[in-house]
Amino acid sequence: MRIRALVPADVERLAQIDSTFSSESILIVEKTGAGLEVGWRLVERALEVPFAKGRAYDLSTEDLARSRQLWAAGPQEALQLVAEDRGRLVGLLEVERQQWNNTGWIWNLIVDRAYRRQGLGRQFVHRAVEWGRKLGLRALILETQSNNIHACRFYRAMGFHLCGINDHYYTNEDLERDEVAIFWVYELQ
Ligand SMILES: CC(C)(COP(=O)(O)OP(=O)(O)OC[C@H]1O[C@@H](n2cnc3c(N)ncnc32)[C@H](O)[C@@H]1OP(=O)(O)O)[C@@H](O)C(=O)NCCC(=O)NCCS
Repeated sequence: MRIRALVPADVERLAQIDSTFSSESILIVEKTGAGLEVGWRLVERALEVPFAKGRAYDLSTEDLARSRQLWAAGPQEALQLVAEDRGRLVGLLEVERQQWNNTGWIWNLIVDRAYRRQGLGRQFVHRAVEWGRKLGLRALILETQSNNIHACRFYRAMGFHLCGINDHYYTNEDLERDEVAIFWVYELQ
């Protein structure tokens, strides 16, 4: 298996990566207070029936269009890596430089289900950190879902910190649906 820079011909093959996951527990977001004095608390809760994301994580047409745009923007603006094993794509990392706040936004960090817990995700994070530091970025930032417990554990283990919650990011009922956007930061400076 090797990690290499993404090339345009890879984009249509990204669907080869099995991005499905299931969670045996999730983070419940509890909101308290009213008016200007509100608080959010994350509480891990075991599920009787594991939550399966199915194919909802698959890259959409818009995602693929963005991948092509990022590639066209060049290596100063985006880091795009794929992992390949015997001709099959098994991992993807995409980070975009955000000039306005001097950060790198991680659009995608995906490891094929059959290739997890082998250090691939860790290598992607190391490469993103190296790239961000070279550009003088102050932080890497990303968003994940409160029901993606494995990704949350992974980001914590990689040195990311929780930096925010948005309970209206996906729909108007994110709290009721137990799928809330949580934001993570990795400070580079
Ligand atoms: C999250 C994801 C990228 C992790 O990739 P990975 O290659 O399996 O991660 P690594 O093997 O490099 O793990 C590094 C460390 O993170 C932690 N970690 C990773 N997965 C974990 C899990 N399921 N549970 C607990 N800790 C975990 C561990 O500390 C691990 O080190 P160890 O294996 O020596 O204990 C992968 O599970 C994935 O692609 N999930 C589906 C897509 C997704 O959710 N992407 C993130 C979207 S925001």
